[in-house]
Amino acid sequence: MIQWKQKTGQFAEDRRDERKCPSVISIEQAIDEAMRYARTFLPEGKVATYIPELAHGDPDQLGVCLITKDGTVYHDGDWRQEFTIQSISKTICLIFALQTAGYEKVFSKVGVEPTGDAFNSIVKLETKTLHPLNPMINAGAIATASCCMELEDPFGSFMDLTRRLCGRESIQLNESVYLSEKKSGMRNRSMAYLMQSDNILECDAELALDLYFRMCSVSVTTEDLARYAVVLANDGVDPATGERLVENWIVRIVKTLMVTCGMYDGSGEFAMKVGIPAKSGVGGGIMASVEDRMGIAAFGPALDAKGNSVGAYRVLEYLSQTLRLHYFAGKDL
Ligand code: DON
Repeated sequence: MIQWKQKTGQFAEDRRDERKCPSVISIEQAIDEAMRYARTFLPEGKVATYIPELAHGDPDQLGVCLITKDGTVYHDGDWRQEFTIQSISKTICLIFALQTAGYEKVFSKVGVEPTGDAFNSIVKLETKTLHPLNPMINAGAIATASCCMELEDPFGSFMDLTRRLCGRESIQLNESVYLSEKKSGMRNRSMAYLMQSDNILECDAELALDLYFRMCSVSVTTEDLARYAVVLANDGVDPATGERLVENWIVRIVKTLMVTCGMYDGSGEFAMKVGIPAKSGVGGGIMASVEDRMGIAAFGPALDAKGNSVGAYRVLEYLSQTLRLHYFAGKDL
């Protein structure tokens, strides 16, 4: 069994201080502890309701799946529950666009800087720059998606890529969430039309929006996302098959943007407390990719004010501290 030395976290919360942690901890034990720790925070979160279909989420659910590079799978709680991928799809959308439209085209439409604003903010589209600041916010993902519209079946090709990255052929669209997003997504619509009027979108706003809404409504489990995360952790090569699924230069871009923008206006705090490239979604998932070691996905529909899953965040925080996963964990074991 792989074992890591435990170190007391500098960013410990009161509830964590009360816990007794052994000096050496296994992955199983870390997951068990992380789940118990994270559950105590669930009452602080709220399920997303701005997409009506997401309001059916159960705020008490919590699940985690961790897959190491050698293929060992660890899991706990509601790890098999299906939920919509939401903004985690923005990372796959970026891979997809870079693979199909190329670097020059994608980054002529969208920047690479953090916004410090909410994921659905429209402010800087109008005041700071005409281009969305990065591909991880809604406006940026809509612009990125629009780069793929020349394909015959953009969503079909996106699904093929998603299924390959997650290692599951049976991944499907959640039709009710898709229809709910399409009906209620007026804020996204405003941004898309603004971008169309500024010639950022090369296609009709409704076409880019439809692809974006579909991408967000793909139904996944923590195991799917942990498999995808371990592919990213392994430089784009599926460790199970040895097949390269994503080119190295694309993996580098995606993981960099996960660090700087993956948790929206909470990205700085997450980098400090957890220190793993990660991406969250309002469906309650967070996918995290520990360089050259493992992929982790956690799920809990109760969200904080920034749209990040309260429970999934705390699971990752605990695992990062006890398993020393922070990218600057240092060598003082
Ligand atoms: O467009 C939206 O608002 C959602 N489909 C996705 C937002 C999201 O997941 C933000 N994540 N934390």
